[in-house]
Amino acid sequence: MAREITHEERGPAVLDDDDKGDDGLIYVCRCGLSDSQPLCDGSHNATTDEEDGIVYKYANDDADGDRRVIGEIASDGE
Ligand code: FES
Repeated sequence: MAREITHEERGPAVLDDDDKGDDGLIYVCRCGLSDSQPLCDGSHNATTDEEDGIVYKYANDDADGDRRVIGEIASDGE
């Protein structure tokens, strides 16, 4: 599985102690769907049923948006 995300920021985000969760850790979003970038907000739960080898696009890069298949990843890496 993979998904296409549109990024508009042009620089890094600075994280500090205020970004820590109740457990003292900072959870950085890697799925690209969080509304609280660069922090995880749980939106990755929408990706749990994505199939390996398929590329998805979520409407408006929103985990609640319509999801469609936009491609496949070749199994030989090409
Ligand atoms: S990893 Fe993206 S919202 Fe959690």
